[in-house]
Amino acid sequence: MKKITIAIDGFSSTGKSTLAKQVAKELGYVYVDTGAMYRAVTYYAMLNNLVSEDFLDKESLVSQLSKIQLQFQFNPALGFAEMYLNGENVEQAIRTIEVSRNVSRIAEISQVRAKLVEQQQAMGKNKAIVMDGRDIGTVVFPDAELKLFMNASAETRAQRRFDELLEKGQSVTFDEVLQNVQQRDYIDTHREDSPLVKADDAIEIDNSAMSKKEQFELVMQLVAEKL
Ligand code: C5P
Repeated sequence: MKKITIAIDGFSSTGKSTLAKQVAKELGYVYVDTGAMYRAVTYYAMLNNLVSEDFLDKESLVSQLSKIQLQFQFNPALGFAEMYLNGENVEQAIRTIEVSRNVSRIAEISQVRAKLVEQQQAMGKNKAIVMDGRDIGTVVFPDAELKLFMNASAETRAQRRFDELLEKGQSVTFDEVLQNVQQRDYIDTHREDSPLVKADDAIEIDNSAMSKKEQFELVMQLVAEKL
C-alpha cells in the first residue's frame, strides 16, 4: 500500500498528540512528537542553568548543542516512543509546567530549530510517519500528502492541559495553565524563524466541540482519500 507523510500542526494542547498516536497506530506508522524534542533541549538548558523564567544564555546553549543527543525509544507497554536525553529517559521530566514556561523561548533559537528539523526530516525520509508540532507542514515536510491544522478555544485547551497535569499529580492552578498556553501561542505565532502558521494546503480542524472518536474518524477518512 502507498505510504504517506501526515503532518499535524496547531496551537498548544489541541490534542494533536492524542490524535497523531491513534492514527499512527491504526496505520502502523511511526509517530513523532516534535514538541518532546524542543522540551528535551529546554530541559537540558534548565539542568545546566542556561535558562530560567527571566534569563537565557543563548550563546552557551548554542555552543553546547552538539552535546545534546536526543533519541526516541519505543515502549511497548505504553504503545509509543519515549524521549531520551543523553541516554536518560526524560519523558516525565519534560512534561512539567516549568519546562512549558521556558520551551517557547528555546524554540525561537534558529540553531536549535535547524538541529531538530534535520533530525525530523531524517526520521521521515521513508514516509509512513505521523509527525506533530508547529512547523511540520510548513518547514519540515512541505510536501506532506496530508496536512492538518488543529485549533480549539484557549479555555478548552487550557482545561485539557490542566486536567492532564492534575492527573500526573502536579500542583498547578487553572489560571497558570491558561496563561502558559496563551503565552506559548503568542511566542510560537510571532517568532521570526518558522512561526506557527497554517500551511496553505492544510485542512483546519477546530475540535472544541468534537470527541476524540469524531476526530479520529474524520482524519481516517481524509487519510483514505490519499492512499
Ligand atoms: O507540542 P508541545 O506543546 O509539547 O510543544 C512545546 C513547545 O515546543 C511549543 O510551545 C513550541 O514552542 C515548541 N515547538 C516548536 N516547533 C515544533 C514543536 C514544538 O516550536 N515543531
